[in-house]
Amino acid sequence: MTALATLTNHQIRLKARPSGLPKRDDWSFTTEPVAEPGDGGVLVKTLALSLDPAMRGWMNEGKSYIAPVGIGEVMRAGGIGEVIASKNPAFAVGDAVSGSLGVQEYCLVPAAEVKRSGLFKIDLRLGTMRQWLNVLGMPGMTGYFGLMDVGQPQPGETVVVSGAAGAVGQTVGQLAKIKGCRVVGIAGGPAKCAWVVKELGFDACIDYKSGDVKAGLKEHCPKGVDIYFDNVGGDILDTVLTRINRKARIIICGAISQYNNTTPVKGPANYLSLLVNRARMEGIVVFDYTERFPQAVAELAGYLKDGRLKSKEDVVTGLNSFPETLLKLFNGENFGKLVLQVA
Ligand SMILES: NC(=O)c1ccc[n+]([C@@H]2O[C@H](COP(=O)([O-])OP(=O)(O)OC[C@H]3O[C@@H](n4cnc5c(N)ncnc54)[C@H](OP(=O)(O)O)[C@@H]3O)[C@@H](O)[C@H]2O)c1
Repeated sequence: MTALATLTNHQIRLKARPSGLPKRDDWSFTTEPVAEPGDGGVLVKTLALSLDPAMRGWMNEGKSYIAPVGIGEVMRAGGIGEVIASKNPAFAVGDAVSGSLGVQEYCLVPAAEVKRSGLFKIDLRLGTMRQWLNVLGMPGMTGYFGLMDVGQPQPGETVVVSGAAGAVGQTVGQLAKIKGCRVVGIAGGPAKCAWVVKELGFDACIDYKSGDVKAGLKEHCPKGVDIYFDNVGGDILDTVLTRINRKARIIICGAISQYNNTTPVKGPANYLSLLVNRARMEGIVVFDYTERFPQAVAELAGYLKDGRLKSKEDVVTGLNSFPETLLKLFNGENFGKLVLQVA
């Protein structure tokens, strides 16, 4: 018996498609032996997983930018791990890697799946493992390309970002400051709002849970809104539409306020503001930019190094806490990028 054959892989699989917030019963907890990789394959030990609002969408049936997770399949999740066996010349035992590892302790990536799983080696000189799940990882890439490609910020413009203290929001706001913009965040609660202003250098932050967003935008965006980076949708999107400038750009990154709806998604009633202001609203899917990730990583790692970019992660330990930990995203309990430490 090889050392690998003595290992057991604990996994969390999708058992049922949830209605509303996912419950513990929507998951099954399975174990299977760890297998040796075949020719061209790689075996990765999961160290930490990225918990993302998009996971809620992947649990639903229906057409999207990616196929839903099938009933009985290991839940899809991006993660960071260590190669513990390899029959692929591109990966060596001990390499730190990032990829779609799934909610499990070990991920066997067969040769045919190496590309699809997005497995790549990470350079820990550029950032820590946790930073590779945050500003140097998928959320950072989303913020970078959403802001730079779709938003095209110009110095002096006003950028508003919702979900400001979250994973994507923290990169967007800090990058917009670096690019010379006025930046106003929208976040839930005084602690998050104080942090984005005092620690991240945003010009202001509106607490949507205790204040009036419209009044806050009027006060903090006296010249109107040129770019709105929308992470939440719903009423906040509708309100920001009333304050946009001519030729404003609205980046539809996500709509977390709508993901657990049992009623239809609420669209913006104020959309005619786009017409009046000759403005545009455009969606972004981060996976369209994978070829250009290295360029963004190089730029963001430079800002991390020179102290202009900060990275905050909220780390919870233990694979089995996944069902409850995921819910933190939807009740705003996470403060920074939500990471599940597995090993
Ligand atoms: N398009 C893409 O390719 C792509 C890629 C990554 C992420 N996204 C999207 O980007 C958004 C942010 O993702 P993230 O990973 O950075 O998550 P996150 O912001 O780190 O965490 C989610 C946050 O959303 C806020 N929230 C939850 N329910 C809300 C509600 N009803 N109204 C307003 N805010 C609410 C909470 O912050 P508060 O405490 O401030 O309420 C919570 O902490 C999500 O919509 C996600 O789906 C899109």
